[in-house]
Amino acid sequence: MTTKLVSQMTLEEKAALCVGINAWQTYAVERLDIPSITVSDGPHGVRRAQTIADGSLPATCFPTASALASSWDVELIRQLGQALADECIAIGVDVLLGPGNNMKRSPLCGRNFEYFSEDPYLGGEMAAAFIDGVQSKGVGTSLKHFAANNQETERMTVNAQIDERALREIYLAGFERAVKKSQPWTVMCAYNRLNGPYGSENHRLLVDILKEEWGFEGFVVSDWGAVHNRVNALIGGLDLEMPGPQEMRVQRVAEAVQRSELDEAVLDAAVERILHIVFKAKQTKKGGTQIDIDGHHALARQIAGETMVLLKNDNLLPLRNVKKLAVIGKAAKEPYFQGGGSSHINPTKVDMPLEELQKLANGAEISYADGYTMQDEFDQALIDEAVKIAAQAEVALLYIALPPFKESEGYDRKDIDLTNQEVALIKAVTGVQPRSVVILNNGSAVAMNEWIDGAGAVLEAWMMGQAGGGAIADVLFGRVNPSGRLAETFPLKLSDTPAYLNFPGENGEVRYGEGLFIGYRYYDAKNVPILFPFGYGLSYTTFEYSKLQLSKKAIKATDGLTVTVEVKNTGSVAGKTTVQVYVHDCKAELVRPEKELKGFAKVALAPGESKTISITLDERAFAYYHPGYQEWVVESGEFEILVGQSSADIGLKESVYVEAPRNRVAPLQRYSTLKEWLNHPRGQVVLESALAQFMKSIEQTFGEAVLASDAIEWAKDLPLDVVFAFWGQNLNMTSEELVENLLAQL
Ligand code: GLC
Repeated sequence: MTTKLVSQMTLEEKAALCVGINAWQTYAVERLDIPSITVSDGPHGVRRAQTIADGSLPATCFPTASALASSWDVELIRQLGQALADECIAIGVDVLLGPGNNMKRSPLCGRNFEYFSEDPYLGGEMAAAFIDGVQSKGVGTSLKHFAANNQETERMTVNAQIDERALREIYLAGFERAVKKSQPWTVMCAYNRLNGPYGSENHRLLVDILKEEWGFEGFVVSDWGAVHNRVNALIGGLDLEMPGPQEMRVQRVAEAVQRSELDEAVLDAAVERILHIVFKAKQTKKGGTQIDIDGHHALARQIAGETMVLLKNDNLLPLRNVKKLAVIGKAAKEPYFQGGGSSHINPTKVDMPLEELQKLANGAEISYADGYTMQDEFDQALIDEAVKIAAQAEVALLYIALPPFKESEGYDRKDIDLTNQEVALIKAVTGVQPRSVVILNNGSAVAMNEWIDGAGAVLEAWMMGQAGGGAIADVLFGRVNPSGRLAETFPLKLSDTPAYLNFPGENGEVRYGEGLFIGYRYYDAKNVPILFPFGYGLSYTTFEYSKLQLSKKAIKATDGLTVTVEVKNTGSVAGKTTVQVYVHDCKAELVRPEKELKGFAKVALAPGESKTISITLDERAFAYYHPGYQEWVVESGEFEILVGQSSADIGLKESVYVEAPRNRVAPLQRYSTLKEWLNHPRGQVVLESALAQFMKSIEQTFGEAVLASDAIEWAKDLPLDVVFAFWGQNLNMTSEELVENLLAQL
C-alpha cells in the first residue's frame, strides 16, 4: 500500500515528509489521506509540549531508567510501557521518544539517569521490555540515542573513537538485542560522530548494521538538531529530520534529486519507512480517554519500590517502634525525583516524602531540618540545626538528593561526589546519631567512602518518579522489602573508573581506550576494589542458591543451554531476589572479559519457600565479535556458567563444553605469519615442503646450536616472506614470490 502511495506523491511531497512540520509532528499530505503523527518525549513519562521551550501537559512521572534497570524485572517494565502507552493515547501522542539505552561508560555522564546500565545484556532486556509494553497498545517508541552517545560534553560534535569489538559487544549490543527482540517503530540517531561520520549521516551504522544486518523495519529519526546536511543524511539512512520546519532543506532535497545528486530511490525508501509507521500509528485511535491519575500514581509507587537498592543495613531497617524520628534534608520536603532536560515531566501529583513518612510512622514524633539547599553553597548553620534534632531522636533519616547543578542532560558531572554541604551534613549527623539512614536521590553512582562507615543504613532511591516519596516510606517501614539490584558498579573513587583517563576526551575526540572493559568487566579484569558491585542489593530477608544444573555437559552452541538453580528464602519475611547468570570463556583466541551477564530472573519467595528457576542461554551467550571475520563467533571449548546474587557474589559454578557451529580459521593473506600458516588446516600442508627447506637451512646454518623447533618458535610471529627472506637463500624466487605461490596453491 505504501509503495503505491509513494508512486502517487510528488517529489516535493516526498521531500517534505522527511522533515517534521514542527517540533513534534510529521508532514501530512491531505490529497492522499496521509495524516500527520505526533511524537513526544519520554522516556519515563509523556512530555507533550506544544513547542520545544514551553511546559508540557500533566502526565505521570515514573522512575527514570537508571532506577528501572535496578528492578531487574522485565515484566514490571513491560507493565510500565503499557501505562505510558495509555497516557500517550489519552494525550494524543503516537510515538514516545524513548527508551534511552546508551551504555554507562562513565558515572560522570550527566544523562546516566536516563540510561539503564553498564551492561548491554541488562540494558537490552530492559529496553526490549519497555518497547514491547508501549507498542503492545499501538503506540510507538524511539530507541535512543543510536549510537555511543555516552557523554554530554560536546555531545553534538564529539567523535567517539571505538574499536570494532567494543562497538559491537558493548555499545551496539544493547540496541541490537532490543531491535531484534522488539522492533521499535523508530530508532533515534545520536548527535555525536562515531569513528568519523555524524550519527545522522553514518551509513554503516544506520543502513549496513541497523537496517540490513539487524533487520530494523521502522524509520530512523534524528535527535533534535542532529542533521547537518539533509541530502547526506538521507544517503546515510536518516529517514526523518526533527525538528521542523526546514523549508530550505526540503527544497535542497528536491533539487538534489532533480540534479541526480540524490537517487530518488533513496528518498522513496525513507518515505516508505515513514509511511509504514504513520499508518501503523493511525490504527490506534488517540485522544478521547483520560489518564488514570490515581492508578498510575499507585503504579509509579509500586515500580519505585521495586527499584530501590538497599546498600547497607546495620540492622536498622525496617524501622520498628521508633517513637522519635529526625527527618533531615531538603529532598524530604521538595523531592528531587527526575532529571533535567528533555525528559522533564509535568507530574500529575507528587508525594512529599515527609508527609508519606508521617502517614506510616504510627504517631512517632517527627522533627525536621533542611540540612542543605539545592544550591552550590555551604551553610554550617543548617548542619548545626540538623545535628541538634538528630541527637535528640532515636533514628535520623537523611534525604540526600544530588542537585541539578551536579547532573542533567546537557552537561556531565565533574566528580562523583555529593555536595560538600551534604558530605559535611552526613558526617556531622552520623557523628551524633549512629542510627542514621541515608536515602539517596541521584541518577548514577556516587562516592560514599567519606561518610558511609558512620551511616547505619544506606538506601539508593534513584530518581524515583513522582510517587517516590511514598515508596521510600514503604521501604523504610518494611511495607515493601527492597529488591533492587545495582545495574551499575559503584566505585570507591572516580580515578578507579574505567574511562577515567579518556573522559570526556579533548580536541573534539574521545577515545574509548578501555575497549570492552567497562563497568564490572573492567573492575574484574583489573581486580580493582569497588564500593558496591554490579548486581548487588540487600534485602530484609536472606536467600540461598543451590543445586545448579546444566541441561547438558556438552552442547552444540546452536542448541543453547538451560541453567536451573534452586532458590530458597532462608529468612523470616517475604522477599524477591534476582538470580544472575554469568558466562566465562575459559580460552579464546581474542581477549575476553572475565565474565559477562547472559541471563537473569527475578523471583518472589515467601519465608522458607523454595523455587527452581530455569534460565536459557542462546548461542550468542557464548559468542564474541571477531573483527577478523567481521562476525560473531563461538570458539569450541570449555565455558563456565557462574550463578550468583551479584557479579561479586558467585555462589555456584558448572562447566560445559561448547562445540562451535563451525571452526573458523583466519584467511591466510600476503602478510600472514608463520604461526597463522601453521595453524591453518590447508596452510600447513601447502607449507610443508617449503618448511622442510627452512628447517634444513637452519641446521646447515646453526648445526646443533639451534634446534629447528626453537627457530620456528622464534620465527612464528614473523610474516612468512620475512622468514624466507632470512633463510630462503637457495630459493629460485624472491620470498614474496614464494608466498604468492603458496597462496595460489591454497
Ligand atoms: C533532545 C534529546 C532527545 C530528545 C529530543 C527531543 O536533545 O537528546 O533524547 O528526545 O531532543 O526533545
